[in-house]
Order: sequence, then C-alpha cells, then structure tokens
Amino acid sequence: MSVEKKDMEKIVALCRRRGFIFGSSEIYGGIGGFWDYGPLGVELKRNIKDAWWEDMVRNPPIGPDGKEFQMVGVDCSIIMNPKVWEASGHVGGFSDPMVDCKTDGCKGRFREDQLCESPCPLKPSKMAGDFEKCALTEAREFNLMFQTHVGALQDNSSVAYLRPETAQGIFANFKNVMDSTRVRIPFGIAQIGKAFRNEINPRNFTFRSREFEQMEIEFFCHPDESKMWYEFWREVRIKWYESLGIRSDKLRPREQGEEELAHYSDACTDIEYLFPFSEETQELEGVAHRGSFDLNAHGKASKGKETAFAVVDPATNERFVPHVIEPSAGVDRFTLAAITEAYSFDENRASPEFMKFHPRLAPIKAAVFPLVGKDGMPDIAEPIYRDIKKRIPCQYDTKQSIGKRYARMDEAGTPFCFTIDGQTKEDGTVTVRNRDDASQDRIDKSRCLEFLQDQLGL
Ligand code: GAP
Repeated sequence: MSVEKKDMEKIVALCRRRGFIFGSSEIYGGIGGFWDYGPLGVELKRNIKDAWWEDMVRNPPIGPDGKEFQMVGVDCSIIMNPKVWEASGHVGGFSDPMVDCKTDGCKGRFREDQLCESPCPLKPSKMAGDFEKCALTEAREFNLMFQTHVGALQDNSSVAYLRPETAQGIFANFKNVMDSTRVRIPFGIAQIGKAFRNEINPRNFTFRSREFEQMEIEFFCHPDESKMWYEFWREVRIKWYESLGIRSDKLRPREQGEEELAHYSDACTDIEYLFPFSEETQELEGVAHRGSFDLNAHGKASKGKETAFAVVDPATNERFVPHVIEPSAGVDRFTLAAITEAYSFDENRASPEFMKFHPRLAPIKAAVFPLVGKDGMPDIAEPIYRDIKKRIPCQYDTKQSIGKRYARMDEAGTPFCFTIDGQTKEDGTVTVRNRDDASQDRIDKSRCLEFLQDQLGL
C-alpha cells in the first residue's frame, strides 16, 4: 500500500474518531454516498461557507477592469417546477453511461467510463469486467436526478426532482433579481445549498457523494467581455484556495477538452487538487463558460422567446442576452481537501497526528486549560475563557493530563492553547502552546484575546 493510501485511511479514522465526519445512519448499516458531519466537521464546513460568502459575495474582488462589481445572493428551493429541468437539459441529458453485471450473486452496476477503477464485487482484487465470471451488459444511459412526487397523487403528473445543481434556481430568478435590485451587468448571483445526484459509484469518502453542497456563482456579463471574465474567475478561484492554506503545487487548473464539456458549456476549467486517494489531481471546482445557454433555454421554455431575458445597455441601447461565467465549487470537496491538506503526522511529537488548519477554517481557534482543577487556577482560567469565547470559538477543558488535552486540541486543529499554571499566580503569565510546532511561550494573562487576534488575523 502506498504511503498516500495509508494516510487516507488514517485521515478517515481521525475524521470518525474526532467527530468530523460519520457515515449516514451508521446504526442501521449506513447508506452508500451519504454522510453526516459531526461537531467539528459542521464548524469546519460552516467556516468554509462563511469564508466563500464573505470573500465572493459581501466583499468580492475588484474586477479585471479595475472596477467594483455587484454580487448578490439567493437561497432557492431544492424542488422546483420540473419544467426547469426539462429546459435546462437535465431531464434529457444529465446521465452517465452505465453497465450491469448479470452474473449470479453479483448484480453490480458500474459507470462504463470507470470500469478500470471499479473493483469486481465478487473478486475485489480484479476490476469489473476483468474477472472471468463478469457478464457485463451493453452501456445504457442512467439519469442521475433523484425523483420524488409532489402532493398526494403519485403518478407521472406529480413527478419532481431534487435539484442536481443549485445553478438553475439562479437562472429561474434572473429577472426577479434584476427587477427587485439595482444590479446591472456585469454582476453575479451566488447561492450555497444542497444538491443531489444518484451517482452510480459514490466513492473516495465524501469526494463523490449522492447528497452534497455547492457554492455557485452565476456571473452575467456582456458577450464581448465573457472571455475576460472567464479568465478572471479562474484566477480568483485558484487564489482563494491558496489564501485558505491549500498548497499551490497541489492545485492544477485543467482546461476541459471539447469531448468532456457538459451540454451547456462553451469552455470549462476544472480546478483540481491532489487528494491522497489518487495519484492524479481531481476536480474541486469547475469554472464554466455557459454562454447564453441557460437564459436562452429558460426564455424559450417559459416565455416562448430565446431572447426573453435580454437586457438593455443604458449607454448604447444595445439589447443582448448576457453570457454567464460559472465558478461552481463543492463544499464537501473543499472540506475534504482542507482536511487532507491539514492532516500532519510527526512521530517525534507526543501527539503525532495534528491538523494544521488555516486559522479561518479551524473549527476551534483556541482552548483554555487550568493545569489542575484546584489551587485557584480555574478561577483565573474561566474569565480568560469567557473573554475569548465572546469573540472567537474557544473551548475550556479541565479533564485528564495537560498532554492529553493538547493532543485532543491538536487533532481538532486548534491553533493555540493557553494553560494557567503555578507561575500564573506568581507573575500573571500563562503558557501559550502553538499547535504547529508544539512550542511553548509565556504571555501576560491579560493579553490572550489580543494575542489570538494578532496571530490568527481575525
Ligand atoms: N452548476 C455546474 C455544476 O454543477 P459540476 O462540475 O457538475 O458543475 C460542480 O459540479 C462542483 O460540485 C464540482 O466541482 C464538485 O466540487 C461538486 N460536486 C459535483 N458532484 C459531486 C458529488 N457527487 N459529490 C460531491 N461533490 C460534487
């Protein structure tokens, strides 16, 4: 087994042990492709979504023309009128080619394009199709949308879909947003929310799940400027991952070949990351040039005219259907990348496993420990903890030895711990312990919050 593979197993074990990620409904044997985030995982995921919203929506970067642009948010329903998915092309075309195995006792179902990565259920040492007993069918298209019914009647007239992407809620509300706000081209509409895909082979922990979250921007611009904005968003999004601690040598922008492009895309760059479960980089986010495909399609299907959602340039009176650049990121994929990037192992440390999260992402930013639960130490520690907790996520721990408390915080990825000890009573200083190198220093007990704000840049 390669070192990388072993690391992934350790990472999955740590995620479970420390409450980052659990299998969904594990007490009943779980369910493939669905995951639950535990107390640490939910904070990490929230920090990721907050960072994205803050950096992309509330405080977006300056545009390539040196000007500010507008960005607004929406939060749309998961189930929409099924006509949305007919117009968008998902009912007809959102499918993967799938093959079944007819061998008795197997009944495996595989993506045709992933046979070489799909172990045979009867003989896992071989890949599907390679074992002599495999009897694979011809490939047929399998639509990835989950179906449900709306209302009491369960027939064709009540079929609806769980959205497979958040993007379409944005397109369906394009005119509502234009009419109800003062946004003008170029501008973006952003959304964070759940998406569902009945993936044939969910795999690699949370990487390919059946229920996941997306952070999507649909950026509307003049067709003549769409190339400029496409390049701009590609740059912005790569830099954003780097700003949150993802090493640039593990990130790779990959321009999709024509044969790979989704039905709506004129061009697409996948921002890929080197996860430990693969020797090749894998998609973290897609930055797609969707042209006017979606506004045309919804204009035609809902209003009978492809140009129904055209806008007018007030300066030139030109009427045009905006082009769309779409940076579409997976919350769960970035959460997994942040976890694998943070995972560190140093056998020379008392607690060899530690999570080097970027300060903005760390689920807990600080911890306060009285060395012992007596001698007046808790009386000094508690006010320090309460003071920090008002501003910065902080934990208080009095249980077990100080070494074990540091180890717990290392695994949670807490950047700094403050320990109130015998010396605190003599000179008013506390021990500050740094997660990354396990070094210890002393600062005045009145400076703990200020120290954190300085060090973490919060
Ligand atoms: N609106 C465009 C769109 O949905 P996509 O490339 O299919 O494009 C965008 O998905 C992002 O959503 C991906 O880059 C990935 O991060 C995330 N994603 C897609 N399918 C996923 C799955 N099955 N499990 C986890 N994340 C997924």
